Formats: sequence, structure tokens, C-alpha cells
Amino acid sequence: MLEKVEALKQEVLNFNPENEAELEAFRLKMLSKKGEIPALFKAFRDVPADQKKAYGQQINELKNLATECFESLKNQFETQADDFSDMDLTRPGYPEDRGSRHPISIVRREILEIFNRLGYVISDGPEIEDDEHNFGLLNFPPEHPARDMQDTFFIEKNPDVLLRTHTSSSQSHEMQEMEPPIRSITPGRVFRNEAISARAHCQFHQIEGLYIDEGVSFADLKHSLLYFAREFFGEKTKIRLRPSYFPFTEPSAEMDVSCSLCGGKGCNVCKYTGWLEILGCGMVDPNVLDASGIDSKKYTGYAFGMGIERIAMLKYGINDLRLYFENDKRFLEQFRMEI
Ligand code: DAH
Repeated sequence: MLEKVEALKQEVLNFNPENEAELEAFRLKMLSKKGEIPALFKAFRDVPADQKKAYGQQINELKNLATECFESLKNQFETQADDFSDMDLTRPGYPEDRGSRHPISIVRREILEIFNRLGYVISDGPEIEDDEHNFGLLNFPPEHPARDMQDTFFIEKNPDVLLRTHTSSSQSHEMQEMEPPIRSITPGRVFRNEAISARAHCQFHQIEGLYIDEGVSFADLKHSLLYFAREFFGEKTKIRLRPSYFPFTEPSAEMDVSCSLCGGKGCNVCKYTGWLEILGCGMVDPNVLDASGIDSKKYTGYAFGMGIERIAMLKYGINDLRLYFENDKRFLEQFRMEI
């Protein structure tokens, strides 16, 4: 009996597994319920009484030895698994697919930064509006045909709740909520019920500017817009203001910039006119000031609004509005350098 114990002890001492599978085989053979060591403990009953003490000591020793051996080897294998020493640090990494900024975001940021430098505060307005803020306070009387200029999306057949058709609606909020001087620049998404094509979309982005204070004049408007045009399109840019009509400004104008692609000589982008229309503007109509609780005898102001998609089209030579909303990586990736 003791010989058997001695033989197993030797086997434990000489055990040197190459892998975890061999270690597991060792555990099954020695320590598991049906293994050699538990069998020796069972045999203890039949050992003559005078040998019980010595035998008991021996099998306990064997058991401890085998358990320790198993535990320490198991540990060794586990730490080996975390060992990075055979890792190839020179192997090139997996290429990471970096995102890029959307052209609308790039242009929006650039425009906001220019006006920010002039002291305009960046503000925000709701996309879901009521009739009053989108039209009423901006001098669109009920049933006025000017409302037809903007094909409105109404929400839940309620003609009072709508998706704003222009960021000018944010002017209404600002004039109601703030005291002059007000100098704000408000980007946002706007919605119109139009058939989607290369030149029209049911959603697009605008930036609205508003400046109200004592003594604000058309000359101030013109100069701020000239500064903007030169900062954005280049210092040689010229501007041209053409008389126009908007219900909320009087006088109203549309602004053209000299074509940045041909330098005003005429090309197919500017349709050989040398000019590109980029925004609407004007002096805030006194009715609009009064409707929002601003004294039109004391204050004057100007406002302007521009479409970001259009300006980005001119900047990058994009010829189809739908590209902005399709999330086609081949299109978006081209703006990677602009981040
Ligand atoms: N809201 C006008 C539009 O969507 C653009 C506009 C024109 C905004 C004149 C203005 C403005 O603030 O003064 O067509």
C-alpha cells in the first residue's frame, strides 16, 4: 500500500504538463472523485490498525502535494494566457474608418463664426411652431397670398401647429422675449411641402440674422453683409442688393455676391450673369417690431436669412440637393479634410 502511495508521489513530483489539457487529465486521474487519491482514502478502512497512523500521514501528504501541484500549474497557465510577450508590435493596425463633418455643418459653423466675430449671439428656436410665430407676428396677415410662397407642413390637421417654414420664426420669439439691443444669429432646420428634386427639398437649413437697436440703418445692414461675403467667399467679393419683397421687412432686398467661381466674368454656375443670389434681407418692418412689443419709434433693426444648402453648393460645386440627405459615404468622405 505504501509503495503505491510512494509511486504516486513520484508521479506528482515529476509531472510537467505542456498544456492545460494535460493538467486536466492529471486532475482527473489524481484528484477527481473517482481518482487515485480518493481511492487511497477509501482503502484506509482496510488498513491494519497499527499501520493506520503512518498510512494516514502518507496519503494526506500525497493529497496536499497533488493539490498544490495542480493549483500552481493552473495559475501558471492562466497568467501565460495574459502574457503579451509573443505579440507582434510591428504589425500595422486595423485601418480605422474615421468620420467626417457634414458639409452643412462645416458651412454652418463657418457662417456662425463670421457673425460671432461681429458680436452676434448664436441662438436657437423651435422647429415645431405655431401660426403666430411663423406667420402672424411676421406680418403675414391671414389669407395673405404671401403665405403661399411657403408650402407649409401642418401637424395633425391643426392649422395652428406647423413645422417652421423659415428660421425667421425665431425672430418672433426673440423680439417677444428680449429687450433691444438684440443681435442674434440663429441656425436651424426648416420644412416645406415641396416635391424632392435636385433643386428643392422638403427639409433644408437656414441661418437667420437679426439686429435691433436705436439708430440701426440700412447702411449697417449693407456693411455687415459685405463683411460676411468677403470673409466667406474671399476678399475680392462684391455684393449687390436688389429690391425685393418680404412681409416682415421694409424695404426688402435680395443679395447677390459676385460669382466666386468665375470671379464675375460669367460661367454656367452663375448662368453667365456673374452674380449668385445668396440671401434675403431688409429693415424689420415697424409693424413687426410693434407686434412683438418693441417700440418702433425708438428702435429700428435689420434682418437677413440665408439657405445653408445653397451656400454650400456654391462653395463646393455641389449640384444636387438630395446628396445632402442621402448619407452616401462617397459624397461625405470628400469633406474629410475640412474637419
Ligand atoms: N425667411 C425668408 C425665406 O425663407 C428669408 C428672409 C428674407 C429672412 C428676408 C429675413 C429677411 O430675415 O429679412 O425666404
